[in-house]
Amino acid sequence: MNQLLSVLDINLSTVTLLLHKARQMKDLVKSKGGLSILKNKVLTSLFYEPSTRTSCSFQAAMLRLGGSVINVDVGNSSMQKGETLEDTIQTVSCYSDIIVMRHPEKNSVTESAKISDKPFINAGDGTGEHPTQALLDLYTIQSEIGQIGKNTNITFVGDLKHSRTVHSLVKLLTYFPDVIITYISPDGLSMPEEIVEFVNLRGLEQRTGVLLEEAIKETDVLYVTRIQKERFATEEEYRKVVGSYCIDTELMKLAKKKMIVMHPLPRLDEIDRAVDNDPRAAYFRQMENGMYMRMAILECMLLL
Ligand code: NCD
Repeated sequence: MNQLLSVLDINLSTVTLLLHKARQMKDLVKSKGGLSILKNKVLTSLFYEPSTRTSCSFQAAMLRLGGSVINVDVGNSSMQKGETLEDTIQTVSCYSDIIVMRHPEKNSVTESAKISDKPFINAGDGTGEHPTQALLDLYTIQSEIGQIGKNTNITFVGDLKHSRTVHSLVKLLTYFPDVIITYISPDGLSMPEEIVEFVNLRGLEQRTGVLLEEAIKETDVLYVTRIQKERFATEEEYRKVVGSYCIDTELMKLAKKKMIVMHPLPRLDEIDRAVDNDPRAAYFRQMENGMYMRMAILECMLLL
């Protein structure tokens, strides 16, 4: 596993290995805090878009495995003097053993990885993919509801057009052909056609045109996303759709007793704060799982 640019870079046996290793990492952190298997290894974190969870959990993962982190302050880097992205990538590649990159343009991370001779991880490329998030999401689904696939109903709500976490997770779910996927989104923010076709070819059932109030009754995993303001051409277009959905305690009364609500975070107003106290609200546990899954990914990419 030299590169993780799309979830489709990894096969089912690697996915299974990562899920297993993430569980081991969780036990390890709980019992000993960490290990030193990545001593003398250096990770460079190169983020051209804001991030809290992804960047912090990658750093925490590296530190807990005994490695070190270079956090490039993009706003103060030589890019401000006009250096190209290519030259920046070549530079950080000399100093590091692995590079984690986020960028606002789709496919930009894949292009950057071609320049580097070091293992490369896509931490989100515009509306493209976010493979490590999909892996931690899968780990969360598995640890919260058990076996994935036996007619597990997964409902995606929100900005499905722009949400890279949804794009990656849906592709990853095609390894589990019994999953049933439902899409609920405001007008103009539906799942990209090419992803729907891809999932269709892999034989998964996909549903649209269902009301959230109906879909939630059958749902095992409700995956909520933020309306991605930064991806809209104008503020006016964003205003038309913001606030379209809100998961609140009334809606949760319609949901199964055993189901979970997930969100990659940050959340705005699409999940009411009162839902946080519901044991089915899994988004903070999901966020914690990010560190365990990224520890597993770093071990596999740097040592196996
Ligand atoms: C998301 C992202 O940046 O794609 N968050 C994350 O990585 N945990 C989702 C978002 O920004 O809405």
